[in-house]
Amino acid sequence: MTEDGLTAYRVATIAGDGVGPEVVAAARRVVDAAGARFGFAIDWSDFLVGGAAIDAFGVAIRPEDVDACGTADAILLGAVGGPKWSDPAATVRPEQALFALRGGLGLYANLRPVTVHPALAAASPLRPELLAGVDMLIVRELTGGIYFGDRTEASGEPGSRTALDTLPYAEHEIARIVRLAFELARTRRSGLTQVDKANVLATSRLWRRVTDEIAVEFPDVRLSHQLVDSCAMLLVRRPADFDVIVTENLFGDILSDEAAVLAGSLGVLPSASLGERKTEHGTFGLYEPIHGSAPDIAGRDIANPTGTILSAAMMLRTSLGRADAADAVETAVAAAIDAGWRTADLADSADQDDGLVVVGTTGFATAVVEALEAAAGVAA
Ligand code: IPM
Ligand code: MG
Repeated sequence: MTEDGLTAYRVATIAGDGVGPEVVAAARRVVDAAGARFGFAIDWSDFLVGGAAIDAFGVAIRPEDVDACGTADAILLGAVGGPKWSDPAATVRPEQALFALRGGLGLYANLRPVTVHPALAAASPLRPELLAGVDMLIVRELTGGIYFGDRTEASGEPGSRTALDTLPYAEHEIARIVRLAFELARTRRSGLTQVDKANVLATSRLWRRVTDEIAVEFPDVRLSHQLVDSCAMLLVRRPADFDVIVTENLFGDILSDEAAVLAGSLGVLPSASLGERKTEHGTFGLYEPIHGSAPDIAGRDIANPTGTILSAAMMLRTSLGRADAADAVETAVAAAIDAGWRTADLADSADQDDGLVVVGTTGFATAVVEALEAAAGVAA
C-alpha cells in the first residue's frame, strides 16, 4: 500500500546495457500512466546487472541481487551485453546474468507471442498475404538442455582441439513445460505443435514420448509433432497455421528469432519467463523485449520501446493481476501504431505511406501514454 492507500506492486527493474535503459524508462512511464488511470502504484527498484555490473562489481549479477529480484512481484528487464564485454574468451560475460536469473529463480517457461499488427505487415520481408492471421505463441523451455548441460571448453593443440557441450533433459523438466503449453493452447485456438529433432536426438525422443503421454489429459487440444528443420521452413511458408509451439531451449531460441521477422521488427515483440512461484497477485515472472542491447543505436533515443511496453503489459496481466491495465496498454500501443507513430526500425515502411511520423523512443512512449489517457477520457 502507498500513503494514499493504493495497492503498490513491487517491480525490480534491470535496465541493463545498450538500449536497455531507454526502453525500460519508456515502459515505466507507460506503466505509471496505467497505474494513474486504474488506481495503483508501482514501487520500482533498480538493479545493476549485465555489463554495467561487470564494470561495477566484476560479475554479471551479484548473488544477493538475484535473491532480491526474486522477492519482488516481477522483474522488468531491458537487455544486457555489448561489444565492451563480448570477448568469447572472457570468463565473466553479461549473458551469465540471464542464466543466473533464469536458473536461480526457476523461470523455466519462456513465452514469446508473435502477432502481426496489420499496419506493420509492410515492414515484414514476407508477403502480406502470408501474414494475415498470424497469431502464435512460442513456449520455450528455458532452464534446461544444452544451455545448462555440462560443458568442456576447447583444449588441445591447434589442429586437434576438441570441445564438448551436452544436452540433458529430465522427464519432469519436459512434463511441466509441455503441460503448461497444453493449458495455454486451451485458452487459444487449441492447437499445439511440439518441435524436436526426434530423428536424431535421444532427448527429442523423450520429449515426444512425454508429450504423447500428457496429451491424454488434453483430448480437446490438437497435438502435432514437427521436426525443427521443417518447422523452420513452415514458419515462413505458412506462419498462420501455428497456434502454440512448445520446444526445448536451443530450438526455441532459434525459432523465436525467426518468427520475430514476421512482426516487421524485432523491436515490437515481448516475452515473459515464468516459474512456479506465486505472489499475492499472480505468478512471479521476468519480462523483457526479445531484441538485444543493440549497442549500435544505444543512447540516441531511436530504439523501439514497443517490445518492452508490451512485455510490461504481460507483466501487468500475469504477475500483477491487472488484466484491466494490461488490456489498456496493449490497446494504447495499437492506437499509437494506427495513428501513424513509427520508430526508426519501421521507418522504411513509413516512407511509403502518407501520414506516418517517425519519432524517437520517448516520442513513441509519449504517444502511447497519450492514447492511454485519451481512452481514459472516453471511458470516464
Ligand atoms: C535470448 C537470447 C539469449 C539466449 C542470449 C543473449 C544468451 O538470445 O534470450 O533469446 O540465447 O537465451
Ligand atoms: Mg535468442
